[in-house]
Amino acid sequence: MSTVIDNFTRHKSERSFTDQPIDDALLERIISTAWRAPTSVNSQQVSVIVSRSAENRQKIAQLAGGQPWIAKAPIF
Ligand SMILES: Cc1cc2nc3c(=O)[nH]c(=O)nc-3n(C[C@H](O)[C@H](O)[C@H](O)COP(=O)(O)O)c2cc1C
Repeated sequence: MSTVIDNFTRHKSERSFTDQPIDDALLERIISTAWRAPTSVNSQQVSVIVSRSAENRQKIAQLAGGQPWIAKAPIF
């Protein structure tokens, strides 16, 4: 089977996080990969906002309707 089909088939959302830090180089790689996702007429109508702040992640977790994994992840 193709690698693309394998990857999509194995996909699952992860909501259980450790406190292992994510360095800037890895974060940059993840975000630049996300930017490669197709968008309508390639207009890339998406913004990415990164928060490492525990206080802000706690607020976002509440504002998102009570999603504690947002506060627990080392970066959101
Ligand atoms: C547009 C969009 C918004 C989503 N929002 C959330 C979210 O706010 N919180 C969350 O935990 N998962 C979110 N998800 C993940 C879905 O809940 C998840 O993909 C779905 O339950 C299927 O599970 P799977 O990804 O493990 O196959 C979102 C997915 C999409 C496509």
